[in-house]
Amino acid sequence: MAVRTVLRMGDARLLQPARPVERFGTPELHALVADMEDTMRALDGAGLAAPQIGVALQVVIFGVEHNPRYPDAETVPYTVLVNPALTPLGNEVEEGWEGCLSVPGMRGLVPRLQRVQYEGYDQHGRRIERTVSGFHARVVQHECDHLAGILYPMRIRDLRNFGYTEVLFPGQEELQE
Ligand code: NI
Repeated sequence: MAVRTVLRMGDARLLQPARPVERFGTPELHALVADMEDTMRALDGAGLAAPQIGVALQVVIFGVEHNPRYPDAETVPYTVLVNPALTPLGNEVEEGWEGCLSVPGMRGLVPRLQRVQYEGYDQHGRRIERTVSGFHARVVQHECDHLAGILYPMRIRDLRNFGYTEVLFPGQEELQE
């Protein structure tokens, strides 16, 4: 398929809520997911939401398997998640560093729920329901935020913990999504 241009922070399309997908298993939905996967892999990202390529639909993909940009990260299974819903489990919140393909070259310290349940569908309409914690929970919260028009810098509690990756973490690979 195709590697698409990722919109960057400042583009109003990143701030708009996404619409639910109404029909599963269509050529259009498969093409969208294929483009998102090509784009995420080309940029070595851990996740991507459809609004980041200018498509205002509730589709996210994510997954981390031995990503050189995340040398210490837990692995997260590759997942296509359509029309997701998140349910908090408990109220424990953890701060962790995040990056985003729409905010290239930067990282911020973002509070996220430590444990969540998520549900939704894959692109074929098969139901997905998982209870996750830690990094997996962080990634899915970051991606679902994109569907509500929220970018991670909007979640940073103390903007002193927001800066350029190469300054904050000299010598480390850039972390995104
Ligand atoms: Ni992002």
